Amino acid sequence: MILVTGATGNVGSALVRQLHGSGASPVRGLTRDAVRASFPHGVEAVEGDLARPASLKPALDGVRSLFLVPGMGADAEVLTAARRAGVEHVVLVSSITVRTHPHLTAAAGNLAVERLLRDSGMSWTILRPTQFASNALWWAASIREHRSIRVPYADIGLPAVHPADIAAVARTALAEPGHRGRTYALTGPERITPRQQARAIGAALGHEVSVEEIGREEAHRQMAPFLGDRTAHAVLDLMGGDVNDELLTVHDTVSSVTGSPARPFAQWAAENIAAFR
Ligand SMILES: NC(=O)c1ccc[n+]([C@@H]2O[C@H](COP(=O)([O-])OP(=O)(O)OC[C@H]3O[C@@H](n4cnc5c(N)ncnc54)[C@H](OP(=O)(O)O)[C@@H]3O)[C@@H](O)[C@H]2O)c1
Repeated sequence: MILVTGATGNVGSALVRQLHGSGASPVRGLTRDAVRASFPHGVEAVEGDLARPASLKPALDGVRSLFLVPGMGADAEVLTAARRAGVEHVVLVSSITVRTHPHLTAAAGNLAVERLLRDSGMSWTILRPTQFASNALWWAASIREHRSIRVPYADIGLPAVHPADIAAVARTALAEPGHRGRTYALTGPERITPRQQARAIGAALGHEVSVEEIGREEAHRQMAPFLGDRTAHAVLDLMGGDVNDELLTVHDTVSSVTGSPARPFAQWAAENIAAFR
């Protein structure tokens, strides 16, 4: 049995579909609300809260492989509960910022979970993705209502990764031998700027999406109410304020692990265009 956490999220929902489609061992999706979650027929929905590890007992029953999205609660206790339940292999979603921006709070948190997992006694595979293509959903309301976006760092491009490619690497690591004890940096196939992303969304919509570049201070004023002061600054650093060569590097890990090329941003835009209409 494979348990997928974050199973209704960007990566987890794609992973559930891919595991189910490949006919791998039985798949269970964790959610806090099984009524709201819609998994493919044959995937078991199980309720549990990662912030309350005791609630995970039914979810972990019989599980041998775990896909873990950390940062939802008590990661140390979740890993202990997994080991006690007999989990043998954990595939963890960390972040490339563990390497590129270790001074940021979120990166330090991911690094701490990586260390806990490595020391847990279970086998592990660590995924370190870069910026997700799905972060463009932040622009959905603005594009729906104004056909435009206002963004900082409009011409700084990171190699945004399609969540389905993170899922594809996770699926491979869970289902095939040779990936235990490996750490994978995951990116898309090319660097793409916000301006180019807006063009790709516009092409899929059939009308232009205009881009207005705003300064860091204005962007921070917009983001801070949702993210808090510190996280807003961290996100802005990663969007362009403090990028470095390693964050800009395109890795071929998706294709070398899965055998399929990494999906371009335009594909993500076409698949998710309903959110922008
Ligand atoms: N976005 C980026 O650019 C980026 C880059 C690098 C790394 N990452 C990492 O990627 C991860 C996020 O992945 P994602 O985007 O696939 O996630 P996501 O779309 O934000 O979804 C998270 C899912 O987790 C579930 N969840 C939330 N709190 C929970 C709790 N207390 N107990 C159980 N389930 C809970 C929710 O499901 P229910 O509501 O159904 O319970 C939700 O669907 C983070 O760890 C982040 O650090 C993100």
